[in-house]
This record gives sequence, structure tokens and C-alpha cells, in this order.
Amino acid sequence: MTDGNPYARGCAWTHADGFVPIREAKMSLLDAGFSRSDVTYDVVAVWNGQFFRLQEHLDRFERSMDRLHMNLRVDRDEIEGILHECVRRSGLREAYVDMIATRGWPGRGGRDPWTFKNQFYAYAIPYLWIVEPDDQEVGSHLVIARDTVRIPEASVDPTVKNFHWGDLTRGAFEAHDRGGTVAVLPDLDGNLTEGPGFNVFLVIEGELHTPDSGVLQGLTRRTILELAEEHGLGTHVAPVPVGEAARAEEAFITSTAGGVMPVTMIDGRTLGDGQPGPITLRLRQAYWDAHDNSRWTTPINYDVT
Ligand SMILES: Cc1ncc(COP(=O)(O)O)c(C=O)c1O
Repeated sequence: MTDGNPYARGCAWTHADGFVPIREAKMSLLDAGFSRSDVTYDVVAVWNGQFFRLQEHLDRFERSMDRLHMNLRVDRDEIEGILHECVRRSGLREAYVDMIATRGWPGRGGRDPWTFKNQFYAYAIPYLWIVEPDDQEVGSHLVIARDTVRIPEASVDPTVKNFHWGDLTRGAFEAHDRGGTVAVLPDLDGNLTEGPGFNVFLVIEGELHTPDSGVLQGLTRRTILELAEEHGLGTHVAPVPVGEAARAEEAFITSTAGGVMPVTMIDGRTLGDGQPGPITLRLRQAYWDAHDNSRWTTPINYDVT
């Protein structure tokens, strides 16, 4: 129910219109963020009315903009204020909060990207799950794409969060056609990378393995590596050859949109007893518990007007 709040389904902010209900948010067809995928973005979660690792998401967003030579007319404090206000107006206690920087548009006739006026957009909508909680109880069937490789990092830097999803979407269709529910793409050297919106972990002989390169340095991935260390689990951030998947006793994928999501089958092979594994479940619990830990949370003041 929206209870008369026009922002209850989500609230957006744009330079042109300020704060608007999510369905009224607009962007120009001329924005190169749309026409050229010339854009970077970041997504931070709100859980129990608190941002999770907001400063780290803002750090990554700023670094991504630097890499793309983008400059916004709003500074970090203003961005933070806009994100807070989007969530506050929506009233959402669990939210998916997106901040987007686009190349924008040029002066008349120009096409040199350094002349464009970069744009900022932000919005908060109800929290999104890559794998719904009920489906997480069953676990995902992960398919490692054979016909699709991840765009080489020498072409598109995967550490800059981006909309170049042609390869990831193609991999998702390949996984779907092969009976899978989620896809991970290999790189040109036959090492695992990542999937559409998530990083991947294998558990081999009780230790965690996740690719070191060719991936977004996911903040959920970082949180899991930190929590694993606190739990005394071994971690390996290094190339993970595709063949290693055959040795995995557990696996899971990680994202701000869904947290730690168990994988119970890889390429048709059942992992362990076919249930989400014990290390996966332990880390998933630790991950959600961390959302109440003040070292990583920033409360939203819903009362301020
Ligand atoms: C390609 C890709 N890899 C990994 C991730 C996971 O990153 P994070 O844990 O920071 O959400 C995302 C998130 O959207 C992504 O788009």
C-alpha cells in the first residue's frame, strides 16, 4: 500500500526535476549514458533503515568517475544528501539505492566526450533480490558459459561498475537454455570471472576461492572476505580456472542485490548433498548480522523534513 505517499514505490532525483516519484523520473534520449553506455553507477543497500557500507560505495563511485574522466556538478556531500533524501521520502526500510553518473550531452553538434556536461541521477526503490529468499533455500544452478567470454578488461575495465552488459546478458540466456538459473562467464584464458550483477565464490577443501581480476571488486565480496577471515576461514583471491568448479563442495554468488546466494548445482553436477552448504550458510548469516553492526551502517533519519 502506498498510504498516499507518492514516493512509496520509489523516489528519484535528477538535475532537471529534483525529487520525483520513481515512475515520473526522466532522462534525455540525447544522454550518452543511454546512447553509448557511457556511464558508471553504484548501488548501496538500505537494510532496517540503515545504509550498509555507504562510504565504501561512495569511494568506489568516485573512483569509477575518475577513471572515466567524469565530473559532476554535485559533490560527495550533496550526493550523500540526495541518497538520504530519496530513501527518506520513499519511507522504505529495505531499499536498493542507485547513484548514476552519465557522460550527458554535448554542446550543439559536438561529439568529443570531454566537452559533454556530465549528469547525475539517483533513486531508491524497494530492495531487489537477484535470487529471491525462497529460491535461496533451494539454491541456484550455476552454469559456466561456454559460448560467451567476459569482455576483456583491456577493453572495458570491470572494476568501473558499468552498463556494458552485452556479454553478461548473452551468458544469462546461455545459462537459461542449458537449464541453469545463474551464469558465470570465463575470461579468454579460461578462468572464472563473474555473472550479471554478482561475484562468485567456490568452496574447495573448506576454503574460499574467488577470482582476483576481470571482475568488479564487489563490496559484498569484500565483506565476505573480511568476515571469512574473522571466522578463521582460508581465502584465496587468485585466478580460478574453470576446471576448479568440478572440485567445489560448495559455491555461492554475492551482490548488494541479494547478499550471499547459495549455489547447489554447477553445470548439472549436484554439490554436496544438494542443500546450501554449511560454510555458505554461516557466511550468509554473518553477512546479514553485519547489517546491524554500527561499524558498517549509517542510519537514515526518516523524521527530518
Ligand atoms: C558485474 C558485477 N559484478 C559484481 C557485482 C557485485 O558487486 P557488489 O557486491 O558491490 O554489489 C555487481 C553488482 O551489481 C556487478 O554488476
